[in-house]
Amino acid sequence: MIPASVSDYRELARRRLPRLLFDYIDGGSYAEATLRRNVEDFEDLALRQRVLRDVSEIALETELFGQPLSMPVMLAPVGMAGMYARRGEVQAARAAKAAGVPFCLSTVSVCDLGEVTTAVGTPPWFQLYMIRDRGYMGELLARAKGLGSPVLVFTVDLPVPGARYRDMRTGLFGGKPSLSAAMRRAWDGISHPDWLLDVQIGGKPHTFGNLAAAIPEAKGMAEFWPWVARNFDPRLTWKDLDWIRARWDGPIVIKGVLDSDDAREAVRVGAQGIVVSNHGGRQLDGVLSGVRALPPIVDAVGDDLTVLMDGGVRSGLDVVKALALGAKACLVGRPWAWALGARGEAGVAHVLQILRQEMQMAMALTGCTDVRQAGRDLLVG
Ligand code: FNR
Repeated sequence: MIPASVSDYRELARRRLPRLLFDYIDGGSYAEATLRRNVEDFEDLALRQRVLRDVSEIALETELFGQPLSMPVMLAPVGMAGMYARRGEVQAARAAKAAGVPFCLSTVSVCDLGEVTTAVGTPPWFQLYMIRDRGYMGELLARAKGLGSPVLVFTVDLPVPGARYRDMRTGLFGGKPSLSAAMRRAWDGISHPDWLLDVQIGGKPHTFGNLAAAIPEAKGMAEFWPWVARNFDPRLTWKDLDWIRARWDGPIVIKGVLDSDDAREAVRVGAQGIVVSNHGGRQLDGVLSGVRALPPIVDAVGDDLTVLMDGGVRSGLDVVKALALGAKACLVGRPWAWALGARGEAGVAHVLQILRQEMQMAMALTGCTDVRQAGRDLLVG
């Protein structure tokens, strides 16, 4: 298949990756209602078609926290990307840099901050999960600061792990597998030889780069989820932002806000931005989709901080809809994870190109020539 859309990349990833990994990327929590709504609520929004408005020049450029973006899209932090393709985070960060959009490195990446920064020549944004060991957290923040990461994205919607039933069924995080499960898993790998050669045989051993140095038991995939449950800190409150702020002088973006009251708290603690997000439907099933949660939050805090959003963005049309509702930019998670799993760096580069072309077309056909002027009048109703 010649991939033309983001969903084509999903299909290619499904073919190339072992089932266990594909399900990890693709899945959500519990019955996956929020995962579905993230996508469906975008589909339910109608763009307003306008005509005869000279759309020969379309400006997609914008900026976030002083950094220029060639379009209002960036790569969301996605854990374990080095398992989807060899040194996957480096490949994705290269594609993002070439496309002129930010890449945000997850705390639980395979390639660590140093590797990505050196290989790409530009430090990524850094996403922080707060674990209980504050000494280690302090070191990690110092490392991100020392390497020059421009923005810290503090993810706050994972005080406890969500119920990821697909992962339980595949046994991804289930501890040491039984003999029959181990054989099934081996077959899952062998029957996806392109992936096996690229990642398992050709790649370096997989560790959680940013965490492995201090926390040896976080090395293996099977140990990962139990480790998260033990080590991610559920005692966090808004007060902990002081602790972070004392160690980080750049912009802080709080990721995982779905409620206007929380958005106001983010303003109060001095965050520069938020990501309206339900973690791609992977945490609390049944919460609002990102795109439905967005408008009241923009109304509440849109003048006080930079509001970004994610969840269910599958096309450039979706990006235009989110901008119309007040987001300054969208993060995409699965779209780049699927593309990386399907075709590595070239896949991620292509997905970004697809999003750009789709945005350009949607802007032209809604008669809007500059993303910075996108407003609610682009939508019907
Ligand atoms: C994620 N997400 C995520 N978020 C985060 O802050 N740190 C992380 O390590 C991860 N890991 C992760 C892995 C995978 C496989 C997925 C799909 C998602 C959430 C991510 O940043 C983003 O919020 C969602 O992916 C956005 O939804 P879409 O674009 O996937 O629909």
